[in-house]
Amino acid sequence: MDSFEKIVQLKREKNAVILAHYYQDPDIQDVADFIGDSLELARAAQRSTADVILFAGVHFMAEGAKILNPTRKVILPDLRAGCSLSDSCPPEKFAEFKRKHPEYFVVSYINCSAAIKAMSDVICTSSNALKIIEKSPKDRPILFAPDRNLGRWVMEKTGREMALWQGSCIVHETFSERKMIDLQTQHPEAEVIAHPECEENILHHAKFIGSTSALLKYVIESPKKSFIVATEAGILHQMRKKAPGKELIPAPPNQNCACNDCPFMKLNTLDKVVRALETGGPEIVVPENVREGAEISLKRMMEWS
Ligand code: 13P
Ligand code: SF4
Repeated sequence: MDSFEKIVQLKREKNAVILAHYYQDPDIQDVADFIGDSLELARAAQRSTADVILFAGVHFMAEGAKILNPTRKVILPDLRAGCSLSDSCPPEKFAEFKRKHPEYFVVSYINCSAAIKAMSDVICTSSNALKIIEKSPKDRPILFAPDRNLGRWVMEKTGREMALWQGSCIVHETFSERKMIDLQTQHPEAEVIAHPECEENILHHAKFIGSTSALLKYVIESPKKSFIVATEAGILHQMRKKAPGKELIPAPPNQNCACNDCPFMKLNTLDKVVRALETGGPEIVVPENVREGAEISLKRMMEWS
């Protein structure tokens, strides 16, 4: 029996569902029951009735599933699958900032730990950040954490001043503007599309900016035939499947490396998915006092978007 067959059998035996982010390996995307961006995955986790949710993504995503659906068992194939954005926001430092600046209304990008979510007023993702900021109280200053790139883009689009936590995504900060310009010269017909976690000098070249799902939709619906895609390379798998015949050129990283592959996302493998389903672990555990706090800000996001 190959890994695919084993996974299908184990899912049935354990009444498990596999939720996968677009940045997962193509094999994992192909065996998943649901693929989506961060917001869609949070919604799928919230409505799941499966006994076991296997989250093929990174730790903060699996934690989000547990926060929204605490009676389900949530497992992550590799517990080390973290996120540079989440790591840039240690809870003690965040608590200290809040203590010193209680006047701030805190909007946190979903790419943060449960402890940070519990200290936030509302959560956002890259697909609803503009809406969440527009709904945030007008009479209070906003702290946007932890992604300074997404935060700066949101400020520009909404015209709302915000204090920005200085975190960033190691993958979306890897793109080289100089190489991007060279690539555009070689492919003048190609449109640049980018995720808002990219730096300003890359976003500046983009014809369209959006979450992973929005980028996928844009490629499917656009009459254009060629795109330079500035985000993690895993999304290209669904773009190739859903928009066959379109030319998809990954945006070039600074060095000659595969740095536009997220090293955290790619820790999950098909073998680890099999093992996680067989053993029922590693399991995500969120202390109840933290979960309750994080649930408030996450549910507020769901209501506002
Ligand atoms: P979205 O899924 O909201 O596009 O975010 C991308 C990302 O970096 C997830 O880690
Ligand atoms: Fe975090 Fe960036 Fe990887 Fe997404 S792509 S999980 S933001 S490090």
